[in-house]
Amino acid sequence: MKKRPCIEILGTGRAVPERILTNQDLEKLVDTSDEWILARTGIQQRHIAEPGVPLSFFAAQAAQAALADAGASGEEIDLIILGTVTGDSKFPATACVVQDLIGAKSAAAFDVSAACSGFLYGLQLAESMMAMQGYRRILLIGGEILSSMVNWKDRDTCVLFGDGVGAVVLGPAQGSHGVLSTYIKSDGAFRDFLHSPGCGSLNPPSHENVDKMLHTIHMEGREVFRHAVTSMADALNQALDQAGVAVEELDLLIPHQANLRIIEAVGKRFRLSPDKIFVNVDRFGNTSAASIPIALDEARKAGRIASGSLVGMVTFGAGFTWAAAVIRL
Ligand code: ACO
Repeated sequence: MKKRPCIEILGTGRAVPERILTNQDLEKLVDTSDEWILARTGIQQRHIAEPGVPLSFFAAQAAQAALADAGASGEEIDLIILGTVTGDSKFPATACVVQDLIGAKSAAAFDVSAACSGFLYGLQLAESMMAMQGYRRILLIGGEILSSMVNWKDRDTCVLFGDGVGAVVLGPAQGSHGVLSTYIKSDGAFRDFLHSPGCGSLNPPSHENVDKMLHTIHMEGREVFRHAVTSMADALNQALDQAGVAVEELDLLIPHQANLRIIEAVGKRFRLSPDKIFVNVDRFGNTSAASIPIALDEARKAGRIASGSLVGMVTFGAGFTWAAAVIRL
């Protein structure tokens, strides 16, 4: 049965650092090649923040763009949810920093840690909290400065990631447009396949732990790949079922932009033609929690989707976590 939406997207925005790191630039850092990176990942370049420029700087820019798009102001926002694993500092939540930067005096603000699934986890939270608490304007942000935790000597991982932020302003749904379904899931048994084991309470900061590079990203790429395809297919099926929507009805699928081969494998499972799948991983790399909201903003502003479009979103990330949503724009 089709559910009546309770929350809808009023505006979208994005912000990425100006500096671009190409595959050719990476050839100078590690033993890799443009051909290898392109063939295995589809990535050509990624945006990388200048050292020391924090997530909140770009998150505030993306938030301002989404607010302008929605015709709203910071003062109107009553909740800020930021999906990230690369906040400005361990605490306070970077959402609180963004609150201050955009003058959202009336808001409550917190971060969500679900890695690449952070934005869709946040969307389900926003939907539930709007339904239960009667919020009027929620700012949902997904953002990462992954360059701050990449080991630039590890060719297995350093070619994959990029920095950036995407944001949406959400309000109560007025009619049939809005979020039709959200689905989230995790399995912590697989946590060691993709993690940053250092500098938390397990391996507190020490010279020794930093020398071992425990504070950087560690990944078993093949395991991630295998689970990503299966879990993304599962999540999308769940979200489509809940929304009462057949996959052929989607105007666009926005998958998490980790890797072109993962995206193509998911598309193949659903027999979706490539023109129905949004891809920008070639220009941004994997921006984790930012990838779906950046893609959503690009797709809207490029005219690929508009008011009334039926859009699927699906993701997979560390935890493992995975999630999907279906929205009528
Ligand atoms: N340049 C050149 N060679 C490389 C590089 C590189 N950057 N990285 C690894 N290699 C080498 C390996 O050392 C290995 O060499 P060997 O055969 O001599 O041992 C060879 O390439 C093959 O390595 P594999 O790891 O088997 O390569 P694979 O085909 O699995 O591709 C990749 C690796 C791209 C990481 C793939 O496993 C993948 O896409 N996994 C998903 C990872 C991902 O997307 N993670 C993002 C975070 S999770 C998420 O967002 C979904």
